[in-house]
Amino acid sequence: MAQRSQVIVLATALILGVARAQNGTGSLTDLASYMTHINATRNDSSPVVLNIDTKDTSKRNATAPYLYGMMHEDISHSGDGGIYAELLANRAFQGSNWNTTNLPDYNGSVIGVSENTIEPVAPVLTAWNTIGNGTRILLDRFHPISSAVPTGIEIDFPEDATGEHGFQNYGWWGMNVEPQQYNVSFYVQGNYPRNQANLTSFTVSLRSNLTGEVFASSTIANVSVPFIDSVQLFTTLHPNRTAPNSNNTFVVSFDGEAIRGQTYYFSLFSLMPETFMGTPNGLRKDIAEAFYDMKPSFLRFPGGNNLEGFSPQTRWKWNETLGPLIDRPGRPGNWGYYTTQGLGLMEYLMWSEDMGVERVLAVYSGFSLDIWGVSGPSYPLDRMPEVLQEALDEIEFCMGNITSKWGSVRASLGHPEPFDIKFVEIGNEDWFSSTYPYRWKFMYEGLKAAYPNITYISTAYNEASASYGYNITIPPGVLWDTHHYEEPSFFVRGFNFYDNWQETTNQPGAQVFLGEFSAIQIDTPSHAVNFSFPEDKHIYYPRLVSALAEGVYLLGLERNPNVCKLASYAPSLQDFNWYNWTPDMIGFDADPSHTVRSASYWQQWLFAHYRGTQSLPITNSEGDYNPLFWGATLDEGKNCVYLKIINILGDSVPLTVNIPQPYKAVNGTILTAADLNSYNYIYNQTEVVPKPLSIPASASTPASYGGAAKFQWDVPRFSLTVLQFDL
Ligand code: AHR
Repeated sequence: MAQRSQVIVLATALILGVARAQNGTGSLTDLASYMTHINATRNDSSPVVLNIDTKDTSKRNATAPYLYGMMHEDISHSGDGGIYAELLANRAFQGSNWNTTNLPDYNGSVIGVSENTIEPVAPVLTAWNTIGNGTRILLDRFHPISSAVPTGIEIDFPEDATGEHGFQNYGWWGMNVEPQQYNVSFYVQGNYPRNQANLTSFTVSLRSNLTGEVFASSTIANVSVPFIDSVQLFTTLHPNRTAPNSNNTFVVSFDGEAIRGQTYYFSLFSLMPETFMGTPNGLRKDIAEAFYDMKPSFLRFPGGNNLEGFSPQTRWKWNETLGPLIDRPGRPGNWGYYTTQGLGLMEYLMWSEDMGVERVLAVYSGFSLDIWGVSGPSYPLDRMPEVLQEALDEIEFCMGNITSKWGSVRASLGHPEPFDIKFVEIGNEDWFSSTYPYRWKFMYEGLKAAYPNITYISTAYNEASASYGYNITIPPGVLWDTHHYEEPSFFVRGFNFYDNWQETTNQPGAQVFLGEFSAIQIDTPSHAVNFSFPEDKHIYYPRLVSALAEGVYLLGLERNPNVCKLASYAPSLQDFNWYNWTPDMIGFDADPSHTVRSASYWQQWLFAHYRGTQSLPITNSEGDYNPLFWGATLDEGKNCVYLKIINILGDSVPLTVNIPQPYKAVNGTILTAADLNSYNYIYNQTEVVPKPLSIPASASTPASYGGAAKFQWDVPRFSLTVLQFDL
């Protein structure tokens, strides 16, 4: 099996490419390259006859109950600026973007010229600006509001100030303004003697950055601002109309005469709109709703590479992501920008609770990537007890009862009920390291002893055999997380990869989690995936071809429910303004009407909506797999059969479906488009969306003489269809 390699090295190099948005306009001419066919397609449009056995219950298998889910890590501003609802960018001046680069005479990546040119990652004033002549803004380290949030801003007003003075934040490339409540807060401290105990009025507002129009405003009047410590101020904003676009700012302003010659220190601003399910410090509604609509069954978090850190010190430390924002230091994430950790462990747990999904909690396994990306530092065996303890504490935080040390901390944060954890993943892509055998064993044995009912996930099996000469044996009941960023034909050829997988690999009881996958480039003669994303090969936005090829592979998972348990597309989110990685399942910018559900999203949506509870045996009495691929399940609750059919040929294929019993009705939903390269973007969001299938009456013979049923239909070229037979 072709395993991708070198992803991390190149992903790291991609940090260089930030903000190089490819702004498609919706026309196919934007595509760097075209596919006219999938290389692995058999050019054979002869008829196919399928016989679905709805009678013999002995040949059925239960489908995998959690098969389709979500993977989230903060990449491409999918957390800060993305699904985390906070609207202010750089809200607490915690750190900047940085670049990595390759230099002659240096092996691998090194830090390159970064946003903060002197000290990469150090705080900057990005996203902030002053209002009014002579107003000064500078970073301030003399009035830390906490040890976790040591930096703020100093604002100096001139002695001759008149009219409006203040400062503003531009948000994450703008901010959405609509009629709803926005919760505002910030910390402020006065300077003595430039303030002489005067009472200060702070006006906050939401404004158009283009016209200056004020959509909502609120004044916190006559505050006696302290000099020794800061005070946190709160208010709300209530726009009464939707702004015409998202080019809006958040303004803190003052009457110039009233603040002449004064100086204030501010930090940790927050502007929170209403969130998904109203959860405090929660999720941006439209993006969360896109996930929720997909009917996912699990959430994998917090990474991905973002779990591992660019160094052991900067890894995702779960206990530093908890509690009041003033206690969260944030960290330089793995994707070239500083993350606030506003979307912390509790927020991920609430995300899964609000969506009613299971959790795949990825715990640090003692390996970080370092800048170079591969074979970064590993904890030696004699220090693995610390790593294990960190994971044990994290799990106790999630599911311990309130009398336990960490369960009581969770309770103190407002959630006394334990969160159930069904799956724990030990690390991420540890096949990039030579040390996983001992780290895996240590972690697996330690965690299993403490939590025997959790299902554990190994991030490596045989991927490192060429480089490091080891295979991990996946114990029965353990899942192997395999990642595939591939060309479309890889997914087609892999349709039967999991048939007899346990037997072939001699791992009885071992199971599979397809933790990350996507069609990342068009077919090439070498099949080698190029992770530098060459324009003429790379797939920027999931295309129809992606949905079809990924769908074929997922049918392969569906028909092996005893082996294949979980699958999640990755990365799941991309800010169109600033990203490290494409393609992504959902794209967005500050304007919710620009949130784009891609072709791959709709493939996931269809498969997740029409899952069924039992797999049904199908025999083909005419024709074979490729160019048609199929799979059938029975939904016992609804008493119906779902037949999924994918046609990867550029011609229609005549299909006959025989069912040995009558059915009451047949309906269908089809995903297809004008072209294999069709894709959805901001201005063409519905190029590739599921549509109801119109089925001619002549196609369907719901009950013939003798009680059997027949359905005859030409499966359209390049299409993915779900037929539903109500029994
Ligand atoms: O999905 C992007 C990255 O790809 C993930 O962080 C990592 O697990 C993989 O290399």
